Amino acid sequence: MYTIFYFIIAILALAYILVKRQFSYWKNRGFLQADASFPFGTYEGCGTKWTAFEALNVQYKKFKGKAPAIGMYSFLSPSIMPLDPELLKDILVRDFASFHDRGMYYNKKDDPISANLLSLDGQEWRERRTKLSPIFTSGKMKMMFEIVDKISNKLAEELGRQLKTLDTFEMRNWSQRYTGDNIGNVAFGIECNCIVDENSDFMKYGRPIFDLSAFDAFMFIFTVEFPNLSRKLGLRDNPKKSADFFLNTFLQTLEYRKKNNIQRNDFVSLLLGLKDLYNSKELAAEAYLVYAAGFETSSTLMTFTLYELAMNSDIQDRLREEIMTEIEDNDGQLTYDMLFGFKYLDMVINESLRKFPPIAENLRKCIKDYKIAGTDLVIPKGTSIDINIFSLHRDSEYFPDPDKFDPERFNDENVKNIKPFTFLPFGEGPRNCIGMRFGQMQSKIGITKLIKNFKFSPCDKTPIPMVFDPKSLFTAPKGGMWLKVERIQTNL
Ligand code: HEM
Repeated sequence: MYTIFYFIIAILALAYILVKRQFSYWKNRGFLQADASFPFGTYEGCGTKWTAFEALNVQYKKFKGKAPAIGMYSFLSPSIMPLDPELLKDILVRDFASFHDRGMYYNKKDDPISANLLSLDGQEWRERRTKLSPIFTSGKMKMMFEIVDKISNKLAEELGRQLKTLDTFEMRNWSQRYTGDNIGNVAFGIECNCIVDENSDFMKYGRPIFDLSAFDAFMFIFTVEFPNLSRKLGLRDNPKKSADFFLNTFLQTLEYRKKNNIQRNDFVSLLLGLKDLYNSKELAAEAYLVYAAGFETSSTLMTFTLYELAMNSDIQDRLREEIMTEIEDNDGQLTYDMLFGFKYLDMVINESLRKFPPIAENLRKCIKDYKIAGTDLVIPKGTSIDINIFSLHRDSEYFPDPDKFDPERFNDENVKNIKPFTFLPFGEGPRNCIGMRFGQMQSKIGITKLIKNFKFSPCDKTPIPMVFDPKSLFTAPKGGMWLKVERIQTNL
């Protein structure tokens, strides 16, 4: 009996010593480090009390100015959070060769669509990026303008129809239904009817990818922490039913297009152009990526833009005036060039991306030992780099009065004074967001049509002050984005 008792005590003591030693990993290497506790390391409360970017922001504020980077622990795994924009420049651009991986999990064999541009590493990523880049040029985006423009009209029509019986709407859900229809159309070649049917298959299978269940969240973390073991065990980091749905939908469209020799101005046709380089599952992985990287990010941008416009009626009025004047001058028609010529819209969108970056936390992996310039600090090979975009965007040194929504920060004069590498909504360097143009296009068209037709204002359920949903993978309002909507004109 006593033997078992002493044995348990010895095991616990050993575990305590090992954990304690692990949590000194950064201190032993000369780095300042955030306080860590078992089992979550420096991420305690993430997913329950607050989001990871809020947890990181506390450490950012505590250590900024004291070191170029600090040590963190994701569970027991050591990671680094850069604090100094100069170091960010080194990581993202100057010394990209040491940081070209993102370190995300993928499993080609058991979950083919997980092996895409976002997750692939090394040479495989480089080759794929080179081959895919021509698909995302502004010329190609211009071709898709018409499709997205039509869908944005559907959004305004349906919202207008529902205004007959309702006056408050959950605008995150509406923004998602709009981007869902866009992506379903251009990346999967199907009319998925998300706007008219919020429970359409596309929404049903898409939601679990971003609003993770406890089990999926566990698998997500486990596979990132133990990628080799996870591959051996055939594990996946996304819900199987959703992945199968997207894979099969794309493969069916591909077959149909090939058989009937159909050409359209969309991602499916552009991806089909690469069929001699990649097999169908590899192409499906990239279509899935357009969904995974382009659906929630753009709808998040729209959601928070509508929020700030509702909260700042003067800004909303000025934006509407710009949009109305330009569209009226062009016989009621919106064009691609006009959209990207809207100056004030661009300022509003940038300020929304600053205050609420849809991807608030960005990742890199150090692939060889790296000495931080001007210090003796060495980031060991294999370390995950956690860039907290949110902290930079809310730093009063770079953006005075950072909680104020002020599009003037991005006017022609002020934009020149923004310190490089402090505004990173689309990342930076050779591995930045490849879909930036499409993301901007669909969000801007959506906002244009909504602001042209409707007035937005806060209602009882509007989140004031903003509380972020700790369970969401992306920046999201807890409890949804409820706003009051009124019609402005009837000739939609
Ligand atoms: C407002 C909308 C969007 C935002 C804020 C956004 C933001 C980002 C950010 C922060 C990154 C990481 C960049 C880095 O590591 O330096 C990224 C990567 C990426 N995004 Fe976006 N994104 C948006 C829309 C889109 C869309 C619409 C697509 C696809 C059509 C897309 C496809 C990608 C891909 C493929 C990557 C990985 C690129 C690579 O690793 O080579 N994104 N995005």
